[in-house]
Amino acid sequence: MRAAVLEELGTPVPGEFRDPEPASGAALVEVVAAGVNHLDLAKATGRFYTGPPPLPSVVGSDGVGRRTDGRLVYFDTTVGPFGSMAERTLVPEDSLIPAPEDVDPVILAGMGNAGLAAHTALHWRAGLQPGETVVVLGATGVVGRFAVQIARLLGAGRVVAVGRDPEQLAHTAELGADATVQLGAVDDLPGALAGANVIVDLLWGEPAVAALTQAAHGARLIQVGQLAAAETAVAAPLLRSRAIDIRGHAVFHAPQDVRAAAYAQLGEACASGDLHVDVEAVPIGEVQHAWSRQAAGTGGVKLVIVP
Ligand SMILES: NC(=O)c1ccc[n+]([C@@H]2O[C@H](COP(=O)([O-])OP(=O)(O)OC[C@H]3O[C@@H](n4cnc5c(N)ncnc54)[C@H](OP(=O)(O)O)[C@@H]3O)[C@@H](O)[C@H]2O)c1
Repeated sequence: MRAAVLEELGTPVPGEFRDPEPASGAALVEVVAAGVNHLDLAKATGRFYTGPPPLPSVVGSDGVGRRTDGRLVYFDTTVGPFGSMAERTLVPEDSLIPAPEDVDPVILAGMGNAGLAAHTALHWRAGLQPGETVVVLGATGVVGRFAVQIARLLGAGRVVAVGRDPEQLAHTAELGADATVQLGAVDDLPGALAGANVIVDLLWGEPAVAALTQAAHGARLIQVGQLAAAETAVAAPLLRSRAIDIRGHAVFHAPQDVRAAAYAQLGEACASGDLHVDVEAVPIGEVQHAWSRQAAGTGGVKLVIVP
């Protein structure tokens, strides 16, 4: 079958890979679309904290496809060496999540890892309460755009979008942000981010410290990504003085039922037009180009591989 194959650690290439065979406890899935995620790039380097992938293997962690009985499903794990960026893959039965039929499967795939990262960060990990103020650090990227919109859907009182690119920031206002803060263009960043109850942090580094500096009592910073820095210094008295929680987060920490409920809510919001997702479908033959675009940051457009 046609697949994006990792022959050596680094970047996959388009090629042929053997078809998955039925296995106990796993479902064969005919892939319709597979998300290109930072996670997939990290795994392909062999440096992701879950360990290096087998070689050769098919890349891709999540996607949307049809089971042999025709049901449309979303999945965010596969049985190695079969990844999601192929015509067919193998998925553990207990990892299958029903996908709605009334939304374009390419959008459903683009909504997967990134949408779930934002939803589970806000709802499951932060326990966002209606009326709370949410600050999204890195709001101009794919996860950030989801976080802005999902914070709205979950009843946030105020949503502050923080990023570098002014045009992309302006777009987050169209998506529902009450205020935008351009990094590098404000003199008093802590002041501009004051009062956060929940911080969705895709950046770490200086923006995260600034958001913590005048955060509300009991604020929760959900650490999701490190686009600005891998390490930073946070003053201990700051955390103690306002009972601030810093909580590390990855989608796979959320239990399966939590992910399934979040995915269902995102699907409904897409179908009703309350959630907007910009996706670009890329054929498997262009996977190397997709890899380099994802590495550079795609400016809010989610790349999706279609076999
Ligand atoms: N923990 C999880 O489960 C999970 C799941 C999904 C993603 N993630 C992580 O979340 C992060 C965001 O993912 P994504 O898919 O949204 O990325 P993306 O769509 O590629 O967006 C990248 C954005 O990052 C911004 N950026 C890059 N360097 C920056 C810096 N130094 N300071 C400020 N902004 C910077 C750029 O914004 P500007 O255009 O404004 O410059 C760019 O739009 C990544 O680190 C990813 O690994 C984690």
